[in-house]
Amino acid sequence: MLKPHVLKELAQIVGPANLFTDAEEMIVYSYDATRLASLPWAVARPASAQEVSGILLLANRERFPVVPRGAGTGMSGGSVPSSGGLVLSFERMNRILEIDELNRTAVVEPGVITGDLQREVEARGLFYPPDPASHQFCTLGGNVAECAGGLRAVKYGVTRDYVLGLEVVLPTGEIIETGARTLKSVAGYDLTRLLIGSEGTLGVVTKIIVKLLPLPESVRTLSAFFPDVTSAAQAVARIMAGAIVPRALELIDGGAIRAVENYLKQDISHGSGAMLLVEVDGPAAATLIEIETFERICRETGAVTVTRAADKAEQDQLWKIRRSISPALYTIKPRKINEDIVVPPSRVPDIIAEVQEIARRYGLLIVTFGHAGDGNIHVNILIEEEERPNAAEAVKEVFAAVLRMQGSISGEHGIGLSKAAYLPMEVGKHALDAMKKIKRALDPNNILNPGKIFISAE
Ligand code: MLT
Ligand code: ZN
Repeated sequence: MLKPHVLKELAQIVGPANLFTDAEEMIVYSYDATRLASLPWAVARPASAQEVSGILLLANRERFPVVPRGAGTGMSGGSVPSSGGLVLSFERMNRILEIDELNRTAVVEPGVITGDLQREVEARGLFYPPDPASHQFCTLGGNVAECAGGLRAVKYGVTRDYVLGLEVVLPTGEIIETGARTLKSVAGYDLTRLLIGSEGTLGVVTKIIVKLLPLPESVRTLSAFFPDVTSAAQAVARIMAGAIVPRALELIDGGAIRAVENYLKQDISHGSGAMLLVEVDGPAAATLIEIETFERICRETGAVTVTRAADKAEQDQLWKIRRSISPALYTIKPRKINEDIVVPPSRVPDIIAEVQEIARRYGLLIVTFGHAGDGNIHVNILIEEEERPNAAEAVKEVFAAVLRMQGSISGEHGIGLSKAAYLPMEVGKHALDAMKKIKRALDPNNILNPGKIFISAE
């Protein structure tokens, strides 16, 4: 609990209207999309880096945890205040500060919704490619903290590939600037990259400089339905071995399709076993040839139906289906376990087969979907509470298979709370020690987002 004199000082820093302590508010800020939950002791809504700095100085003096939070859409418990403490919520720091059309950069505060930036720059013929499935709700600060990926990562990469620089408040309260406004800069250690994906454990991001691209001239999308997930996964491997890189290549297995059909009250697949969504972008003449090539590959690998979206409305409808998977699965099993393993694209058929085998052996209902083009598959185990221990064993086996295939246990959701126990499966002892040394050097009192990434910071 925070002592009255601490609450008084916090109220002085952010203003009394931006400090909450009542029970209802604490519930609102207690969970993220994993449904893991823990009540904070208080919530502050700072309006500037200076206010964040003041709060962190106070937290070090009084030794209370501080947990930064965007929109709470994270998938690994990164923003859950698992040790209590103060939640820092960035609702007030939600301005797009600058869009520099000449140099194709933008400067934003951490509370800006990703989709708002996308729309704003697209209206000026520019493009911000990172595209998490939750882009209508998630914030750029959260995207930076977790190094969010999304649907277009297969061609364009992830959040870290678009962040040129940051303004960050260090855990001990100093305000620093990292990176530069330019595409190139090798002035010292790359603190920007260190901070991106550090899950709010090494600093609080208060400003983000992003790189933008020209908006592609044309976008074409197709949907393909397969009798089973094996043939769809083979299409993925063939597409990714070819010369054309799609801007999105998403796989949805039969279980995930049924869940969305139920959720949207719509027959999408006429009973198919798997669906692929493929999208290309670029000059109109080129995308026409590209989409035809992908159509042919889908048919050759066993697709029963392949349909090109006729216009923007049909494209939007397909992406609505895709973005509805996660909410649809939560309505069926609110306690589902959601993993985001990633393997080299050629191993997508192998990992899907392994997951099916593990599901059978453990008697668990597992659905798979996601960014198959870059090998990032969401393995969702749909459990009742009593199945949790069994599911934890199955997760361990899935991770072991992923690592045998030279993949990673987390492609885009981060380690947070939910994968901390598994991190040593992937990261060797000395690398883990190096990470913990960095944490201790920057946050000697373990103030900032304690308990995340590592089971123990020691
Ligand atoms: C997605 O791709 O839909 C998100 O990463 C969320 C999820 O894994 O459920
Ligand atoms: Zn995803």
